[in-house]
Amino acid sequence: MQNKEYFEIKGLGGQKTLSGKISVRGSKNAVLPVMASSILFDSPLELTNVPHIEDVERMRELLLDLGAESEWTSKRSLKIDSRKLKSNKLTSEISKQFRASILLSGPILAKYGKVVFPHPGGCVIGARPIDIFEDGFKKMGATVKEVGEEYHIKAPKDGLKGAEIFFKNMSVTATEAFIMAGSLARGKTVLRNCSMEPEVQSLANYLKSCGVNIKGIGTPTIEIIGKKSIKTKTPYKTLPDRLEAGSFLILGALCAKDLTITNCNPDDLMVLTEFLKDAGVPVSTTNKEIIIKNNTKPNDSFTSSNIRTHEHPGFPTDLQAPAAVFLTQTTGEATVFEGIFENRLEYTDSLVSMGADISMWNPHKVMIKGPKPLKSKELHSPDIRAGLALLIASVVAEGESVINNIYYIDRGYERVEERLRDIGLDINRISE
Ligand code: EPZ
Repeated sequence: MQNKEYFEIKGLGGQKTLSGKISVRGSKNAVLPVMASSILFDSPLELTNVPHIEDVERMRELLLDLGAESEWTSKRSLKIDSRKLKSNKLTSEISKQFRASILLSGPILAKYGKVVFPHPGGCVIGARPIDIFEDGFKKMGATVKEVGEEYHIKAPKDGLKGAEIFFKNMSVTATEAFIMAGSLARGKTVLRNCSMEPEVQSLANYLKSCGVNIKGIGTPTIEIIGKKSIKTKTPYKTLPDRLEAGSFLILGALCAKDLTITNCNPDDLMVLTEFLKDAGVPVSTTNKEIIIKNNTKPNDSFTSSNIRTHEHPGFPTDLQAPAAVFLTQTTGEATVFEGIFENRLEYTDSLVSMGADISMWNPHKVMIKGPKPLKSKELHSPDIRAGLALLIASVVAEGESVINNIYYIDRGYERVEERLRDIGLDINRISE
C-alpha cells in the first residue's frame, strides 16, 4: 500500500503569499464509524460527502472482505450493503493499517454474535490499548479470549445484553463502538464518561435518525435502548472535517494574506479560532466558513500562548502538531502539553532540525520559544497529523523541502496538494 511517493514543496520563507478559497472534505473520523455501522442495518446504507482518503478505502476493503457489497454511486457518494456478511473475522493485513478497524467489533458482535480481530494498528502516537473494549463487551455478556495475536469475542446465545458501562478513559472509538453495540443489544445500555467529539455526535445522531432510541448525545452519559432491527431512512451526509479545516487555518495564519476556508463547521473549531484570535491572527467566521483577511503583519507580531490538549470541547490532540508549528513562529515562550497520548510529540525533533527552538521536558510536554526561522529539509511523515504539520512547516521555511511517507497524509487528507496548489503553493507529488 505504501508506494514510494513524496511531496516537493517550495517554502515561502516567512512570506504570506497564499490566497483564495480552500474547500474542506468530509471527516475521516466521522465517516469511518458510520461505514462500520452499515453492519447494523437491515437495509443498504448510503453515505454522501465522502472523502477520497486511504482509510476510507481500507474500511471498504475490510467490509468487502467480510462479504459486504459496496460501490461508489457518484464522485463522493458511497453505497454499502452489509446485510449478508460471510465472515466475522477481520483480516489482519488490512486492519493492522488503521486503528479505526476496531470500530467493526461492536457492530459485528451485536449483529452476528462473534467477532475475531487482531490488535488494531494505526499511528505510533501511543500504546493504544483496547482494554476498554474488552471490559465493555464482557459487561454486555460476551466472552473475550486472546488466541495468539487475535481477540476472539463471543456474545451470549441470545445476543448482547444492555449494560451499565463506565469508560475509564474517554475513548472516541470505544464510545462509538458501544453506541453501535447498544443499538442492537437486548434492553438498555448506559454509557458513562463518553467522548463528546462532533464525530461521535454525528454517528449517534444518524443512528437516532434511523429510529434508534438514544439519549444524551453530546453529553458524558448516553443511554441506548436496543432494537431487534434497524433500517436506514436517509443517506448519511459526512460531517465536514474540523481537523482539515483547522490545519488549513493554521497554514493560512502563517502563510496567507487572505484565505477563506469553505464547507466547514466553525462551531466545531472554536477552541482553535479563539487561540489564533488571542495570538493576534485576523480570523472571522460565518456559519460555513472561516476567513483570514488582511493578514499582512509578520508572524512575530503574533503572541505565543500555552496549549494543553484535552478531550472535546478542549484543544484537539489531532491539531496539536500543526499548532506547535504556529508557536515556532510567534513571539514568546509557550508549553505544549499533550494530555491524551503518551508518544505524540516525537515529530518535534524534525521541527528542531529545521531550526525551531523546542525543548522536550517529558513525553507529554515541550517548551517552544519563538520566533525562529525554519530552513527546508528532507522530512519523513511519522503519522497523519504530524505529517500535515511538517507540510505546514515546509511552507513556512526558506527553500525546497521534501516530505516522504505521504501515504500517512493521504490517510487523512484527500489529494491535499491539489487544493494547496489552487491557493498558490508550489507543491508537487513525485512518484518514484
Ligand atoms: C480517535 O482515536 C481518533 N481516531 C484519533 O485520531 C484521535 O486522536 C483520538 O480519537 C483522540 O481524539 C478515530 O476516530 C478513527 P481514544 P481513538 O480511544 O478512539 C486510551 C487521527 O489522526 N484508551 O479516544 O483510538 C488511549 O490510549 C487519529 O485521525 C485506553 O486506555 O483514541 C488514549 O490515551 C489519531 N483503552 C485515550 O484512551 C482503550 O481501550 C484516548 O484514546 C482505548 C483507548
